[in-house]
Amino acid sequence: MTDTVIRVEGIGKRYRVGQRESYRALRDVLSNAFRSNGRRKPKDFIWAVRDVSFEVKQGEVVGLIGRNGAGKSTLLKLLARITRPTVGHAELHGRIASLLEVGTGFHPELTGRENIFLSGAILGMSKAEIVRKFDEIVAFSEVERFIDTPLKHYSSGMGMRLAFAVAAHLEPEILLVDEVLSVGDVLFQQKCIGKMQDISRGGRTVLFVSHNLGAVRTLCGTGILLRDGIVATSGPIDTVTAAYMDALWQGTNSHTVTIPKPPERCNVWMESVSILCNGEPNSILETGDHMSLQIKFRSREPIQKPIIGYLIRSSRGENAVNANNYFLPSANYPKPVTQGTIICDLGDLPLMAGSYSVSFWLCRNPHEQHHVEDVLHFSVEEKDIWGNGALPTKSLSCLWWPTQFRFQRTNEPIRTLELPAPRLSRPGR
Ligand SMILES: Nc1ncnc2c1ncn2[C@@H]1O[C@H](COP(=O)(O)OP(=O)(O)OP(=O)(O)O)[C@@H](O)[C@H]1O
Ligand SMILES: [Mg+2]
Repeated sequence: MTDTVIRVEGIGKRYRVGQRESYRALRDVLSNAFRSNGRRKPKDFIWAVRDVSFEVKQGEVVGLIGRNGAGKSTLLKLLARITRPTVGHAELHGRIASLLEVGTGFHPELTGRENIFLSGAILGMSKAEIVRKFDEIVAFSEVERFIDTPLKHYSSGMGMRLAFAVAAHLEPEILLVDEVLSVGDVLFQQKCIGKMQDISRGGRTVLFVSHNLGAVRTLCGTGILLRDGIVATSGPIDTVTAAYMDALWQGTNSHTVTIPKPPERCNVWMESVSILCNGEPNSILETGDHMSLQIKFRSREPIQKPIIGYLIRSSRGENAVNANNYFLPSANYPKPVTQGTIICDLGDLPLMAGSYSVSFWLCRNPHEQHHVEDVLHFSVEEKDIWGNGALPTKSLSCLWWPTQFRFQRTNEPIRTLELPAPRLSRPGR
């Protein structure tokens, strides 16, 4: 079935900077009346969402990603009709349940039980329908003990659990979810992802905002990347998350990083880490360049064989290379040292064009690791490896693995295809 259930055309939302337009308490209204005596600049506006158009088909799970302030929550609020667009419009076909960052939508003075009935009624469900779903909602939320306690006494995580349980179980046709995972614990996060998968398998549509790219990739088939309120990229989720990570990392390429001093319990720690390309510090490489990693370390007590591990991860989240010298008979220092430099020689770089990060760990024994995650960022540039203008297809894999192609006819010797040797090293090096 390919019915369009959400159609957004040229939607935009303009806010006045510094003004929170909704959910104002009487207290705020009064204090604003005193404050705003002609002092506000008349044209201080911001477009939180600008000229956004897209369509979502029934059963699609769409991830909405972007940096803080990119306009994700505003877009969901526009779809949920919590706020009105300044321009453009959005058509949604079906019963909508939303879980937005503006709060759970619950009434603080009512109990969990009363709030479930209220939310169901707002969603247009009959009392009998809600009664039928009630036990399932309570069981999912795991707040049975507090179901007759007023919401104002719930922790933020508990409130969110109940809100998610309500939104997910009241059989919405369209579910809009903003950042719920950030409040719950890891187990509850997994449960939410599973539930959203069930919902989409049942043919319902989900729009999911999260900064947890792993969750977004697990759950969503397609994605929309917002940048400063406009759609920067949309399409298959892997392409969209990779575009996001590339943009995030681009400004942060760094061939050398000094590492802040680690906790006291680390007896051996890294002071700085670097990427070397053909022997020189550099964070922009090409496939085939000679790459090494250099780690300057210190140790409280003299040490003869530091154990170092590194992980290179692509902007798509794939672990490209993971290596360490724990089991290797690698060189020792001739005498124990309290400081030194370790060089990990990776040889010719077999990575396709893209952005990559490097994480490291260092220890004397596995129980006292100093670990630094995604500390270095480097990019690999596109390269005409075959010298014929055809660039390797980087979207298909992150490794460039040279392969010899040979052909054999039945009962004849194998013929090796005469290919020009790949041009790996840079001219003049
Ligand atoms: N009610 C409001 N009044 C004025 N400005 C607002 C209002 N709501 C949002 N904004 C502004 O609109 C822009 C987009 O905000 P929005 O909350 O949609 O971002 P977001 O992508 O959800 O960010 P985050 O990842 O931090 O949740 C921001 O610059 C924000 O300051
Ligand atoms: Mg938000």
